[in-house]
Amino acid sequence: MPLSISHNYSLRKHNTFGLDVKAERFVAYDTVEELITVLADIRNDKQRTLHIGNGSNLLFTKDFKGTILHSNIKFIDILSRDRDEVMVRVGAGVAWDDFCAAMARNGYYGPENLSHIPGEVGAAAIQNIGAYGVEVESIIHEVETIEISTGNPRVFQASECQYGYRDSIFKNQLQGQYIVTAVVFRLSPSPKCHLDYGQLQELQSSTTTPSPQAIRDAVIAIRRSKLPEPQDLGSAGSFFKNPVVPVEVYQHIALSYPTVPHYVINEDSVKIPAAWLIEQCGLKGKELGGAAVYERQPLILVNKHNAKPNDIIALADHVKQCVYNKFNITLNPEVNYI
Ligand code: EPU
Repeated sequence: MPLSISHNYSLRKHNTFGLDVKAERFVAYDTVEELITVLADIRNDKQRTLHIGNGSNLLFTKDFKGTILHSNIKFIDILSRDRDEVMVRVGAGVAWDDFCAAMARNGYYGPENLSHIPGEVGAAAIQNIGAYGVEVESIIHEVETIEISTGNPRVFQASECQYGYRDSIFKNQLQGQYIVTAVVFRLSPSPKCHLDYGQLQELQSSTTTPSPQAIRDAVIAIRRSKLPEPQDLGSAGSFFKNPVVPVEVYQHIALSYPTVPHYVINEDSVKIPAAWLIEQCGLKGKELGGAAVYERQPLILVNKHNAKPNDIIALADHVKQCVYNKFNITLNPEVNYI
């Protein structure tokens, strides 16, 4: 299939906020070879580039001058399987949840807690997506990439990716330098369950070990009850990260709010749910222009009425300022501003 290149292209379908911003050029490629060719052209023209998955973690603040690249590399290959582990190689352009669904069907444990997260496999490995007690780094074996400046392939072992909370080397030192083309996952054919998250604990009480499909179904039910579906209401999932604060800051808040929810990270620091901080500021449902704080989960900002990028930026700034004024805590966005 020839390379698809579009000009002055609407990105509405390529960002889950559903913002109608335009890209000067949009290139979708199907193979690594095509990607290498496109990168050579881009180098020659010195174009600004951005690689996107399905834009589930992006806030386009304005039209994009330059070339947006998008992967259509889609395959799921079982590389090996024995009693203890299954190695699965997946193209970066595969929808994350298609991968989760396929693995649950096969009875392989690993990605089931991460079911229904919007996005694609390549972006998941960059963002280190996480939910319900699991982060994707725990099942990544290696990440296959192409270096943008040379077109050379490079494979990163998971240990080289510097994974942290919604963080990796690809978001820091190597930001904008490599494009993920495939990810190799290490999964388990025998039960390996993570059922500590509140509503998943019910699955622990049954006498039989839940199948990956049963866990997937439970996770999808929880997500549907809390999170907006991108096709119904535009959002980028959690807008902010949960802040990790010094234990003294937590203790100070606990004086006035003895039941403040928190997770101890280590003896010096505590994570406080941003959703709780935002709720205490009375911001649930707050609207600014076309943007709103989602009623059911205030960590999420939504495109309620045909929002413009500036509506979302202004609302995010307002939320950040209110939380800072009330708690002296700075919220940092989880979404990437472009
Ligand atoms: N909370 C409130 N009010 C609310 C909702 C939540 O006070 O209206 C408090 C409660 O104390 C609750 C706590 O916030 O126990 C945590 O809420 P929740 O379990 O919904 O999770 P979260 O910390 O808000 C994180 C991830 C989500 C992930 C869930 C479940 C981040 C930034 N977000 O949210 O990930 O699905 O945990 O594991 O870490 C995403 O990254 O886009 C995302 C949706």
